[in-house]
Amino acid sequence: MPDPLRHLLSLHDFEAAAKKRLPKPIYAYVSGAVEDGQSERGNRHAFSQYGFRPKVLVDVSRRSTRATVLGREYAAPVGVAPMGISALSSYRGDIVLARAAADADVPCIMSGSSLIRLEEVMQAAPGTWFQAYLPGDDAQIAALIDRVAAAGVTTLVLTVDTPVAANRENNVRAGFSTPLRPSAGLAWQGLTHPRWLFGTFLRTLWRHGMPHFENNYATRGAPILSANVLRDFSDRGHLNWRHVAAIRRRWAGRMVIKGILHPDDARTARAQGMDGVIVSNHGGRQLDGSLSPLQALPAIVDAAGGMDVMLDSGVRRGSDVLKAMALGARCVFVGRPFNYAATVAGQRGVAHAIGLIVEEVRRNMGLLGVVDLKALDADCVMRIT
Ligand code: GLV
Repeated sequence: MPDPLRHLLSLHDFEAAAKKRLPKPIYAYVSGAVEDGQSERGNRHAFSQYGFRPKVLVDVSRRSTRATVLGREYAAPVGVAPMGISALSSYRGDIVLARAAADADVPCIMSGSSLIRLEEVMQAAPGTWFQAYLPGDDAQIAALIDRVAAAGVTTLVLTVDTPVAANRENNVRAGFSTPLRPSAGLAWQGLTHPRWLFGTFLRTLWRHGMPHFENNYATRGAPILSANVLRDFSDRGHLNWRHVAAIRRRWAGRMVIKGILHPDDARTARAQGMDGVIVSNHGGRQLDGSLSPLQALPAIVDAAGGMDVMLDSGVRRGSDVLKAMALGARCVFVGRPFNYAATVAGQRGVAHAIGLIVEEVRRNMGLLGVVDLKALDADCVMRIT
């Protein structure tokens, strides 16, 4: 039988295939951005603002995509970004993503807004990084951090670009909320997407029971489907660098701040003993009109004083990876396309998607005249607009 993945030639191709499989509210949640989508579009546009300056007649026959991130060598500088409720868009989504990344020897960050206990994911894929949204009070933060350490996590990522909830109008329009509210419309979406209904949702209910938010706190949170349970969206507006300092004292592993766009924040992160930062506008899902990470990157690399700087938001091609690295990123993370890949074909789909972008990096290194990613620098690119 011909392999159904053979038509998926680039990361872009997974979206249309996943859209067909997913109920509208769930597709809207994954694909959506905030307000007018300015940041989301800007993220893609930013990559086209730079052109490569290839060097020719370099012997590229022995090039390597290997890269060191936070002191650990990986097969390639492209990882899986944290994505909420991944186990709703694909069966056992968090495990599927983490295992595919581990097999490909690339980094993977598990989301804290997830429906599978992090202990299970760590067992399935040791080495996975964990991304936390901080609960609102000190005791809850301490309990969560201790739980994450006990689960064997060695790299903790704190997402800090969500002090208040974003204005996700598209979720409201599509009937998406957490928890999802049972309705005739939602039932219809399930019935008209039988592969998702049977292959993901009912299979999950049958084998693992009703999914709950498992990792926002040290203890279990709300179910994903409920007529009346309210999710605890306790205020994060008061969180500040003092909370980060307290966590740094408590957490012995590597620690990364995700969601910065200002060089001052990179300086503060470094002064507070962070091991790295991820320059990100949350895939255009938080503050609409925020700079694209690629635009913000050079100033942040300057301010980072040697700390590892990583990037996500809008990366879709191997050429994007190389541009980000030329401007100083250690590695990049890709979100939605890997989520779609899990929806379309589970772990095999994610492995295929990782393979495609890593192969693009390798091919484009050859075309650029680069043998080792460490040789990438600002001289390899030119700003053209
Ligand atoms: C969660 O991080 C989201 O962007 O929905």
